[in-house]
Amino acid sequence: ISRRGILGLFGAGAAGAVVGAAGGAGTAVAVTGAFGGPEASAAYDFHGTHQAGITTPAQDRLHFAAFDVSDSLDRAGLVGLLADWTDAAARLTQGLEVEEGGAVGGSDHAPPADTGEALGLPAAGLTITFGFGPTLFEDAAGVDRFGIAARRPPALQALPRFQGDALKAEWTGGDLCIQACADDPQVAVHAIRNLSRIAFGRASLRWSQLGFGRTSSTSTSQSTPRNLFGFKDGTANVKAEDGEALAEHVWVDAADEPAWLAGGSYLVARKIRMVIENWDRVQLGEQEQLVGRSKGEGAPLSGGTEFAEPDFEATGATGAPLMAATSHVRLAHAASNGGVRMLRRGYNFVDGNDQLGRLDAGLFFLSFQRSPEQFVTVQRSLASDGLNEYLKHVGSAIFAVPGGIRPGEHVGQPLFA
Ligand code: HEM
Repeated sequence: ISRRGILGLFGAGAAGAVVGAAGGAGTAVAVTGAFGGPEASAAYDFHGTHQAGITTPAQDRLHFAAFDVSDSLDRAGLVGLLADWTDAAARLTQGLEVEEGGAVGGSDHAPPADTGEALGLPAAGLTITFGFGPTLFEDAAGVDRFGIAARRPPALQALPRFQGDALKAEWTGGDLCIQACADDPQVAVHAIRNLSRIAFGRASLRWSQLGFGRTSSTSTSQSTPRNLFGFKDGTANVKAEDGEALAEHVWVDAADEPAWLAGGSYLVARKIRMVIENWDRVQLGEQEQLVGRSKGEGAPLSGGTEFAEPDFEATGATGAPLMAATSHVRLAHAASNGGVRMLRRGYNFVDGNDQLGRLDAGLFFLSFQRSPEQFVTVQRSLASDGLNEYLKHVGSAIFAVPGGIRPGEHVGQPLFA
């Protein structure tokens, strides 16, 4: 019995309602689920021009995983893994099990094909997005394990070291990544768990991250959520409905190099610890100065409402700029970075607490851009960000995200053609 089959028994007609997503804009259709809140039972197309999980309205939960490919795997083995992952992802995102009858098809001699914990749950808006890290093309020893080094995107390099970086090897890098987003954490975790299981002996988990409470909107239909500093996050994001901005800032173009990455993007992941105990002792006015926006409405300090453009020239009674020189929004804005923008899609995290009784909390920053240079430019500009006193970048990774997958193909197929 498939997950959808089980739902059918309960008469959940809305389960698995398909919402176009991978194709781009116009996808923000909220479906009221029989068992949950809005979008609980939405299922997004797995196939399309672009991979889902980028412009798809940001779901509430994340399980992100970076993998290392086994040294014993050859090119055919890697292609086999990508094909198996693609098949499974196409099913999981539609609310189905890994295989037909997967969780009930085991026997005394074989474990079930699907681990089972999502049985009876709807698709929950699950998207699965795959990425290829620099070390897939050339490992640390410079070895071209899969005969793809010549097709490596020139821009796909480990990120440079940034001022203040306190990166830990255990949250850095990876040959492959999978971003699983869903409105139900159990569904996102089930996806990563089963994809890891499928990879057994071929690729293993290097590091992973759970996230909650999206810290961005990727569609104008969504309200702006808040990060753990309590500020609205995602106001000035590139959104699904802005096709021109997506083409200019997010999607790799057929004219860009290499051609196999057309319709794809570059994903940057940064695990950013927030020292929230110190932040919580900062006065409201000072917090707002550091961000450059009001805490309540999220309006720029230069005036207007949430979506008003900040006026960086505006000055106050003392002659000082209303958007402080070291404010995050000023330094991150396109005006400070030669017009550069990106699509942010991060999540909050709380990984328990440290030995001093402080929450091990922060923002798992994810951004999609047409070139890694966009992230590098903005992150360098943020070197003088006043927020840095309360932030520590502890993890980092970059991946090339292939374009959309056509039915019958596997992710990244043009790379191996
Ligand atoms: C905007 C918070 C890290 C890039 C914002 C805003 C907030 C915020 C509150 C204003 C609302 C909005 O437009 O979304 C944070 C926090 C961070 C963080 C708490 C770390 C924990 C980063 C990083 C980058 C970045 C690492 C990229 C290198 C941006 C950009 C904007 C923005 C591009 C939009 C600026 C604009 O066009 O007005 N961030 N951010 N942020 N942030 Fe961050």
